[in-house]
Amino acid sequence: MNARERDGGAPGGPDVRKLMFSISTMEELGDALSSRDHFRDNLHTALLSLMGSIPVACGALLLHEPRRGELVLVAARGTAARPGLRIALPPDAALALQHRRRPLSVNAHVPALSSWVRRTSLLKEMGAEIVAPLRFKDELVGAVALGLKYTGETYTAGDHELIMVMANYIAIGVHNQELLRHLESANTALRRKVSENRRLYRNLESIYADTVRALGAAIDAKDPYTGGHSDRVAKIAVALGQALGLPEHEINALRIASHLHDIGKIAVDNSILLKPGRLEPGELTQIHRHPTVSYDILSNIAFPYPDVALIARHHHEWVNGSGYPDRLGPSQLLPGMKIICLADSFDAMTSDRPYRPALKLTEAVGRIREGVSVQFDPQVTRAFLKVLRGEVLGDEASAQVLSGVDRRFSGPAVLDCIDRHLRELKPARRRAGAAAAT
Ligand SMILES: [Fe+2]
Repeated sequence: MNARERDGGAPGGPDVRKLMFSISTMEELGDALSSRDHFRDNLHTALLSLMGSIPVACGALLLHEPRRGELVLVAARGTAARPGLRIALPPDAALALQHRRRPLSVNAHVPALSSWVRRTSLLKEMGAEIVAPLRFKDELVGAVALGLKYTGETYTAGDHELIMVMANYIAIGVHNQELLRHLESANTALRRKVSENRRLYRNLESIYADTVRALGAAIDAKDPYTGGHSDRVAKIAVALGQALGLPEHEINALRIASHLHDIGKIAVDNSILLKPGRLEPGELTQIHRHPTVSYDILSNIAFPYPDVALIARHHHEWVNGSGYPDRLGPSQLLPGMKIICLADSFDAMTSDRPYRPALKLTEAVGRIREGVSVQFDPQVTRAFLKVLRGEVLGDEASAQVLSGVDRRFSGPAVLDCIDRHLRELKPARRRAGAAAAT
């Protein structure tokens, strides 16, 4: 028994120990070859492992670019050629290499391949003895060229088998790399699409908001005394909704309902709407119909947010159940309905009307306070007073509740008034706790 047979190899067959060592090296390289990091460096290491397994002094690893009909040098040792070198690989040579299941000896006569080998200067310059395809399934992903063995011997069948095993490992890594690249580029395209859609959606939202605002302004234009009313109600209502922590879709619904809440006034005769004096009962009945008409109009529209038509219908409901049109009790009122009721009333109080001039800010705040638990919800009123307090103290440009209010008011007087009302309106539980503590 000779040394090769003791090691488990057959004459001319692969050296099993060498094969196992090479496979374990390739398995370790497998993870690295499947990673996007340092891929070219890992290919270089894979080539050196393959060269060391034979061993040879000269080798080159090339990747296939089928669309350009080329092989590109990505790793080399023992040759002056530099990575990036491109070699033409005509379709017939590519096809022949793709179907080859074992290395090609450059001296062998193989149709299509032999003429390509003779024409390729890199193979001549490096003294290539062997060209092995890198195949994944039936796809040619590249090739490995190896020079003369250190021993000067010819390549054996065992060498061929070893080369193909290692070439297959490299080919899987290269193929994985292609998949990762496609995945990344698909992800990038997808991200670009999502961002484009977001931008279009924002544009649509903005167009939608402008349309709703314009419609609200058109409603207000029917009555010169209510010019800008819907826009101001929307600003106040949104500020209160945000202060009360309403979810975004409810705030959006509230904004739209605020702009359109009085759309039903188109059914009210101008002579009644603009009448400066007291209204007759029949005229009041007509006025009181406008929230129902608003609902009838808006309930035919598919708004992207819930309850827009309902909020508009109930913007004149009071928390004590004496509002109109349905005299709903507090438990039946949605937060948006309670908010719009206060916002609408506050703007009406602080605007000139045919039958009276605008109230002073402290007067309007006093009226709101008087209406707590009658017309207005206590929690909404507290939020209103806190927002107003912040706006009196804060930046005029960002004011929402104060957007339609005559600014010629005394800040300290208004703050004093707000603070007094806030103390009175403290939640019952906290007041009881404070009493027990004293
Ligand atoms: Fe109204």
